[in-house]
Amino acid sequence: ARKGSALVREIHEKQSMNKSRQRFWELAGSKLGEILGVEKSAEQIDADKAKVGEEGEVDFKEDAKFAQHMKEKAEAVSEFAKSKSLAQQRQYLPIFSVRDELLQVVRENQVVVVVGETGSGKTTQLTQYLHEDGYTVGGIVGCTQPRRVAAMSVAKRVSEEMETELGDKVGYAIRFEDVTGPNTIIKYMTDGVLLRETLKDADLDKYRVIIMDEAHERSLNTDVLFGILKKVVARRRDFKLIVTSATLNAQKFSNFFGSVPIFHIPGRTFPVNIMYSKTPCEDYVEAAVKQAMAIHITSPPGDILIFMTGQEEIEATCYALAERMEHLISSTSKNVPKLSILPIYSQLPADLQAKIFQKAEDGARKCIVATNIAETSLTVDGIFYVIDTGYGKMKVYNPRMGMDALQVFPVSRAAADQRAGRAGRTGPGTCYRLFTESAYQNEMLPNPVPEIQRTNLGNVVLLLKSLKVENLLDFDFMDPPPQENILNSMYQLWVLGALNNVGALTEIGWKMVEFPLDPTLAKMLLMGEKLECINEVLTIVSMLSVPSVFFRPKDRAEESDAAREKFFVPESDHLTLLNVYLQWKNNNYRGDWCNDHFLHVKGLRKAREVRSQLLDILKTLKIPLTTCGLDWEVVRKAICSAYFHNAARLKGVGEYVNCRNGMPCHLHPSSALYGLGYTPDHVVYHELILTTKEYMQCVTAVEPQWLAELGPMFFSVKDSDTSLIEHRKRQKEEKTAMEEEMEVLRKEQAEADRIS
Ligand code: CDP
Ligand code: MG
Repeated sequence: ARKGSALVREIHEKQSMNKSRQRFWELAGSKLGEILGVEKSAEQIDADKAKVGEEGEVDFKEDAKFAQHMKEKAEAVSEFAKSKSLAQQRQYLPIFSVRDELLQVVRENQVVVVVGETGSGKTTQLTQYLHEDGYTVGGIVGCTQPRRVAAMSVAKRVSEEMETELGDKVGYAIRFEDVTGPNTIIKYMTDGVLLRETLKDADLDKYRVIIMDEAHERSLNTDVLFGILKKVVARRRDFKLIVTSATLNAQKFSNFFGSVPIFHIPGRTFPVNIMYSKTPCEDYVEAAVKQAMAIHITSPPGDILIFMTGQEEIEATCYALAERMEHLISSTSKNVPKLSILPIYSQLPADLQAKIFQKAEDGARKCIVATNIAETSLTVDGIFYVIDTGYGKMKVYNPRMGMDALQVFPVSRAAADQRAGRAGRTGPGTCYRLFTESAYQNEMLPNPVPEIQRTNLGNVVLLLKSLKVENLLDFDFMDPPPQENILNSMYQLWVLGALNNVGALTEIGWKMVEFPLDPTLAKMLLMGEKLECINEVLTIVSMLSVPSVFFRPKDRAEESDAAREKFFVPESDHLTLLNVYLQWKNNNYRGDWCNDHFLHVKGLRKAREVRSQLLDILKTLKIPLTTCGLDWEVVRKAICSAYFHNAARLKGVGEYVNCRNGMPCHLHPSSALYGLGYTPDHVVYHELILTTKEYMQCVTAVEPQWLAELGPMFFSVKDSDTSLIEHRKRQKEEKTAMEEEMEVLRKEQAEADRIS
């Protein structure tokens, strides 16, 4: 996969903006300004498009009748949304036409698989139908989502449809945020939240029905839930399970639960005209921006949806679009049609996310720039044009680095088709693929690889162990993860002290399960307990659980960088976060103070909330809140204890190598340790981000003897002298020893089972 986009880099420099703007004008033809606002014949539109197409990579040929048809459809749709009440809109959904049959099948079966096109009404309607059919008497209807954003936005929509306050009859729960109450009968939640609930209540007694929505996404948590819910179904006759899927791999789900019925919601989709790029495109951000502008200027009404891979690219795309629109407006006297540019990605604040569903101000065309979140989880009506880069970000476990990395990959054919389908929801649409037809046929995988087969399983192992699943290789996985990944993850947990030599949870391990945190952060917290600085570590862990609080507007970069530097604690980004939080606290948690210091007040408030929730868990575990005051050396030691696998030693200027595997890793320019003339020999880092280089994210200087003392399995004091091969050898020996012991235990257990 190619790394990043040239445009993303360029956009950071104002200078280059002018260049790319110029390039746009060259490509789009200088007459575009003139043709704006002029009544044109369909032939003229086509001629203009062909002209743009000649210089660009995308084929613009498209018949005029089709364009006219789309225009009429678009008008009809916006007319529809304006004139109909929410209740009427509900009845217009495809699922409504099969409501009674569907409820009948649910009545007669304990498990049902429901298949329907995206937008047919599965997520918003199923819960309400079940409620209307009496399933919420003495129980809750729960619906899981792989994504937080979807859980929140869908709950909001359903609360509106049911005319109730969000959090009353209809609510949602995501990690660190529970918007439900005593009256809640329909609860949307992330699959991770339900998974954690099974820890407290293995039979999920408060639920009458669980809908496992978006099962086709095969998120890690959904896959684990499959195995767990299968047991719940066997134990509770009064419990119902509905599994929904947007694609047709439903047979697999049905088989897993013992050939349960598959219910199909009849589709109501329109044809989508697919346009491939003629040549592989060099820079998909640039290409997408160009394509969107071309559509906006020359094509009939209808909103645009662009698929990008992540936040950075989305921001760059939106910025470039805004710039080009601005230029267009200032350089022509004619009326330029309005374009409403809307980003959407999971870390975007909720109020901004909600904007994509709102009607744009009169006459404006919406252009939504999204991650694959808009592939299936979110449905926006009125999309007539999809621009697909063909790329998406995927978390992949890299055994070489022993860690997860979010990397850009080509999407699968199934995903590309799903993306295209978004243009045919309200009328016939067009999908511009910024890749070639041959890439689609020959280079893309037919289906995405399930997350469970490609990620670190640390959390899953911890969770299943606490659910008394002794032998993970025996767990009922629909697609078992590679054995090597399980063993690798167990090894990491053993290193953290969560598992003992025979693979059972230790006391620390049991405590770690209680926290809705990654094992590393849970370990840091518990080390804070041991080293009597839990108050400080708690703040750091909370700050690491929210998106970055540093605000860096592009037009005030220098000013905001200077503001950030004032918070720097030279030896640690973690302590810098602690410092920010403490200063905010000393200023009475004020919002205006945040604005003055270029900090996101929402992020800080969220961190405060997370902190108080983690504090509650500490209280229930009877862990006292100890503090080390301002003597922060011991805090660094606690930080060190969580990140053995992310320890690095100095190699050159600003350049480090991972102590265990020799991977190069670099200090990021935004780090407190960068360019201060202070480069410690040893550091630990929170995670590695792959952009133009491998950058360490959130770095803390540590003493080498801490590594030796806290992680003797990895390091000895004179370790920095021993060779890499030595390290690897020892590491391997220890791992083999652990595996052998586990094997012995397994045999003993099997023996015991046979006797009893
Ligand atoms: O789950 P499925 O993809 O089958 O459909 P859905 O999410 O239930 O969406 C049904 C309809 O509800 C869509 O046509 C959307 O317009 C609308 N909807 C909405 O307006 N706001 C949301 N947050 C979610 C759905
Ligand atoms: Mg849905």
